[in-house]
Amino acid sequence: MSEAIEVDIGDLPGVGPATKAKLESGGITTILDLAASTVNELVDNMNLTDETAHNLVFEAQKLLRDKGYLEKDLVSANELFARRAKMLRCTTFSQNLDGLLAGGIETQSVTEFYGEFGSGKTQICHTTCISAQLPVEQHGLNGSALYIDTESTFRPERIAQIARARDLDVESVLNHIHVAKIYNASHLELIVRAMGTLIQQNNIKLVIVDSIISLHRAEFIGRGTLSERQQKLNGIMHRLKRVAEIYNVAVIITNQVQATPDTFFGDPTKAAGGNIIGHASTYRIYLRKAGQERKAIMVDSPMHPYGDTNFMVVEAGITDPLDKKPTKFVKPTSRHADKEDSQSEE
Ligand code: GTP
Ligand code: MG
Repeated sequence: MSEAIEVDIGDLPGVGPATKAKLESGGITTILDLAASTVNELVDNMNLTDETAHNLVFEAQKLLRDKGYLEKDLVSANELFARRAKMLRCTTFSQNLDGLLAGGIETQSVTEFYGEFGSGKTQICHTTCISAQLPVEQHGLNGSALYIDTESTFRPERIAQIARARDLDVESVLNHIHVAKIYNASHLELIVRAMGTLIQQNNIKLVIVDSIISLHRAEFIGRGTLSERQQKLNGIMHRLKRVAEIYNVAVIITNQVQATPDTFFGDPTKAAGGNIIGHASTYRIYLRKAGQERKAIMVDSPMHPYGDTNFMVVEAGITDPLDKKPTKFVKPTSRHADKEDSQSEE
């Protein structure tokens, strides 16, 4: 990866000092950042023309493709297979949940957990921040975590408690979690844009966004702002996906639920954010309270069987239920049901 990084953004065809300065003002300082950008982002935030923005993203992606860091437009299944072989899986400390995920949270992918309040989303985020630090042989990612906290629910005390309960070095664990507290939607967009540098400088292997939607939901109220909000969320999701692929990191996002009162059969809750988030997430897991336990349901995945399982939240973070119920798989139903309505939010 280092070879591509040594190429300066100013060395790309058509990038003069003025363009470079504009990009830097928007938080884009490396070729990797640029390659992960969308044309809209560059036009809206960095005052570039459509044509320049298009060329810049094209040239940056071409360079990465030539050097083998991004998938080519046309790849053989063999090449894809080799790329996926580099993929790592991070344990959640629950064998049940790992089983549902076919081994853990994958790098090169975006894994979405959605569910009502108290369903365990933030607890999964806290736990994986710790498990990601374990060596690969212990089903970790051998790296640090970047915790993007939009709801002010990150608690170092909880990290310390989990680490202590698992006999880990508390100070070292805390040192390897980098927390970005985010206060508004544009701040989230900015940090997601500038994430590449943070990842490289800090050996980040797991990126968490808890939650992806709360700030945009609070700031873009009413039907009139829906398309702008969706466009912004789309930009964020697109970039998270690219970052996961380019840097071989795991990305976890959490999402809220919304009630769908017009549902006649089944559970009347579905993930917020319309189809933008659903389409960009590689894996979608729905969390529900089930007494003392939590139920996790694989709602959408290109490769996992549709299934559900139970886990628990305890002092040591996420774990299996005491009786260790085996994972139960149910027959697939309409896996894309929640993606079909596009912008029916709110
Ligand atoms: P929202 O962010 O409100 O949408 O919910 P969430 O899904 O993020 O919920 P979260 O992960 O914060 O789960 C909260 C639940 O986890 C609590 O209701 C507790 O049941 C459980 N929990 C949190 N901390 C502890 C702990 O230290 N010990 C135990 N045993 N359970 C805990
Ligand atoms: Mg939470």
